[in-house]
This record gives sequence, C-alpha cells and structure tokens, in this order.
Amino acid sequence: MEKSNLTIDELAMFCKRKGFVYPSAEIYGGFAGFWDFGHLGVEVKNNIKREWWAFHVQKREDIVGIDGAIITNPKVWEASGHVANFSDIIVVCKKCKKANKIDRHEIGKVKCSCGGDYDFENAREFQSMFKTNVGIDGFAYLRPETAQLIFTNFKFVQENARMKLPFGIAQIGKAFRNEIAPRDFLFRMREFEQMEIEYFVDPKEKCPYKIGNSEILVYSAEMQEKNKKMEKMKFIDAYKKGIIKTDWHAYWLEQEFLWFIGLGANKEKFRIRQHMKDEKSHYAYDTWDLEYEFPFGWKELQGMANRTDYDLKQHEKNSGTSMAIVINEKGEKLIPHVVCEPSQGVERAFLVFMFDAYEYDKKRDNVVLHLHPKLACYKAAVLPIVKVDKNIVKLAREIYEDLRNEYNIFYDESGSIGKRYARNDEIGTPYCVTIDEQSLKDKSVTIRDRDTTKQIRVKINDLKEVLRKLLNNEIGFEKAGKVVETRVK
Ligand code: GAP
Repeated sequence: MEKSNLTIDELAMFCKRKGFVYPSAEIYGGFAGFWDFGHLGVEVKNNIKREWWAFHVQKREDIVGIDGAIITNPKVWEASGHVANFSDIIVVCKKCKKANKIDRHEIGKVKCSCGGDYDFENAREFQSMFKTNVGIDGFAYLRPETAQLIFTNFKFVQENARMKLPFGIAQIGKAFRNEIAPRDFLFRMREFEQMEIEYFVDPKEKCPYKIGNSEILVYSAEMQEKNKKMEKMKFIDAYKKGIIKTDWHAYWLEQEFLWFIGLGANKEKFRIRQHMKDEKSHYAYDTWDLEYEFPFGWKELQGMANRTDYDLKQHEKNSGTSMAIVINEKGEKLIPHVVCEPSQGVERAFLVFMFDAYEYDKKRDNVVLHLHPKLACYKAAVLPIVKVDKNIVKLAREIYEDLRNEYNIFYDESGSIGKRYARNDEIGTPYCVTIDEQSLKDKSVTIRDRDTTKQIRVKINDLKEVLRKLLNNEIGFEKAGKVVETRVK
C-alpha cells in the first residue's frame, strides 16, 4: 500500500481502520452510496469546508454566503429544468445483465466494464432526484444541487448585502442524487456535500482580476474531438489563445486550482477539461471541469459551468418575480449572467487530499499522512514520555489543557513513545510535543516534526507562539527552537 499505487479500495479500508469514514449503517450491511464520517474524518471534512469558506468568502469582498433549505418548493426544480432534464440513461449489459448509468452522448458508443455490449435499444431514462413526502399528501424533492437556493434568494441577498456586480453568492451544504451505480468509495455517492458559488456579472464587463501564470494541463473540446494530446500551458495563455473563451472562466479555473495547491495537493495531478457539445448540462453555455488523476483515471473534481442568465430568467418566468437589478446610476437594469459556477464536492476534495497525503514510509514502517496542517485533524499531540512519573503527566496535562483552548490537540500516554509517534504519523498530526525529565528541570519540551522526524526543544512559555508560527508556515521548523538529537524517530 505505497503512495504511488494505493487503490481507492485500499484508501477506503485505511479510512475505516483509522476512524475517518465508515460505510453507513455497516452493522446492518451498509447502504450503497451512503457513508458516515468518523471522529477523524469529520475534523478533516470540517477543515476543508472552513478553508474553502475562508478562501472564497471571508477573504473576498465580492462574495457573501447563504445556507438554504435542503427541501424547498418543488416548483423550483420545475423552473430550473431538473424535473425535465435531470435524468440518467440506464442500459442493461447483454452479457453480465447488470444495469448501468451512461451519459447521453455515450449511447451506442460504450461497452460495459465486463466487456459485454449494452442493449441500447431498450435504454431508458431515470429521474435522479429523490422524492419525499411533505405533510399528509404533499411531496418534494431533496435538492440535487445547492445552486438553485442561491438563485431563488438572489434578489434578497443582492439587496440586503448591497452587492454590486460583479459579485458571488456561496453556499456549502448537502445534495442528494439517486445515482444508479454509486461507486469508488466517496467519489460517486447518493448523499454528499457541495461547496458552490454562483458568480454574477454584467456580460459586457471584463474580469478586473489578474489571471496568473500558473501552469496546468489543458484538454479542450477540440483536442478531444481531434484526438490530440492535452497540453500544459499557463491559464493566461489558454485565455489569450481563445481556448478558454472568457477571462472570467480562466480566472476562476485558476483560483480553484490554486485553492487545492495551497492546501498541499499535488499540482501535477490536475488538468482542466472542457465539456464536449453533447456532454454539457441543460443550463450550460460552456463548461470546464477541474479534473484530478485518481487511481481509477482522470475524473471530475469540480464543474465550472457558464450558466449565462438561464437560471435567473427561468425563475423570473416561473415565479413572476423580476430578477433584474439596477446596474448603474442611470437606473439601467439587467438580469446578471452566471459567468462561472465553481461547484465542488466536499468528499471529492477529501479524496484528493487523502491520496496526496498518504505515504507508506518504509524506513518508519508505518503510514505517514502528510496532511497540510490546516487540514489535519489534530494540530499537535501532547505526549508525556512515561506515564509512571506523576510530575511529568501533571505537566503534560497542564500543557494539553492550555493548548486545546486554541486547537484540536490529541493527548496520548499509552504505549511506547515510538508507537505514539507512529500513531500520530498515521492520522496526520503535524507536531508531537513530548514532556520528559528535562521538562521538569528547565520548563522546556521537544516538538517533533511529522514529515522529517526532526526534533527541536522550546521553552514551555514559548510553545503556543512557536506552534502558531509553525502551523501558519511563518517559520522554518529548525529555526523555531534548538535542534536536538533524535533518539526515537
Ligand atoms: N450546480 C452544479 C452542479 O451540481 P455537477 O457537476 O453536477 O454540477 C458539482 O456537480 C460537483 O459536485 C462535482 O464536480 C462533484 O465534485 C460533486 N458531485 C456531483 N455528484 C456527486 C456524487 N454523486 N457524489 C459525490 N460528489 C458529487
């Protein structure tokens, strides 16, 4: 199970063994497409959501958030086109007899994974929205995307938050899809979470933000149609060459890529791929996906559709509420366009960060989970070197109680110090703080770095500040204290 060839099933097993993710209701045999996050998984998931919110909402003036209802008036889904169009095509394999979901554009073109031919003549449509009862005789759908709640609240938010174009509305929340074939652990689920932004612009206005020089593999619709290879290029060049049609789209694609890279994902595993004509959703004018090379192939991480004014116009038509907003001092009005809709599944981001963090370290003979400190479940572990010395344990508990006011901290006194380091490596704790005999004499502790196993000694009085600087990458590890000989790695 080394980093390079870890399969999705092996990752699922690791996640279960350590307490990150369990099959939902496993004591009853599980339930396909549904997963529960354990005591460690929930921390990573919450950290992903917190970092996404900080990057997209907290640190930007032009985006505000909402939290809409999971169940809303079913008219919303009629207006959005989901009732009519949000369906999958089901085909049955003539050889293995299994029913599978395929995309519309794959009809007549693909084979079953067993090698058998599909019975395309009897292909049928299957509505992917879950239906539920409301009250005695009402019904509703579980939302298949969070986006529509942004559109239905658009006017309130724009007015109350006094947003001026260009601006975005963000939301994190559950979405539900009755997937025919949930698979690949958290990749295709029936209940999952989305982090979405609808970014509204006046289509005549240029993007005022800089498109940077980061490079990524680009796979345009034309490259796919003509069987050409994907090309590595800068986002700005892809826009200048007309491969990415709008500056806004290029800008958002790069931002989303940078969000992943900033949290430790491996930049070589990303590409952007444009949807082919017959692949686009019913609302999309142009769509690019941010894709990641999973062990089971290149797959969509994040969809970024240009939805134009489709949704706001649909809701205006169906609800009778004007969606136009005043765009200048002359009082001119416009229904804004969604030039890009960065839409990210939380669980797919979780998979990326776990795959890129996982390493089987042969020297240590244990897994080291190199999670970015911002994503790690515990920011540090506090370990008394031995548990028989009451004074050491007392000091360790005091340090633990103090640190946990600021961070999630793991206190561990069972087993040898080597075992405890290994235990923390496996769950991705970036730093281990050890309290030993010397701590009693000179009020200092050691800090061990997960990635290098190097150790430094710092004064207890400085510990909080040193940890803060280390976690925020404000100081190099060896500069943060006195480097000490490492007896136990
Ligand atoms: N509002 C646009 C929208 O929902 P989408 O491409 O259907 O677009 C956006 O979904 C993202 O949601 C995907 O890129 C993926 O990260 C996540 N997602 C979609 N279906 C999923 C599923 N069945 N299981 C896990 N994540 C899913």
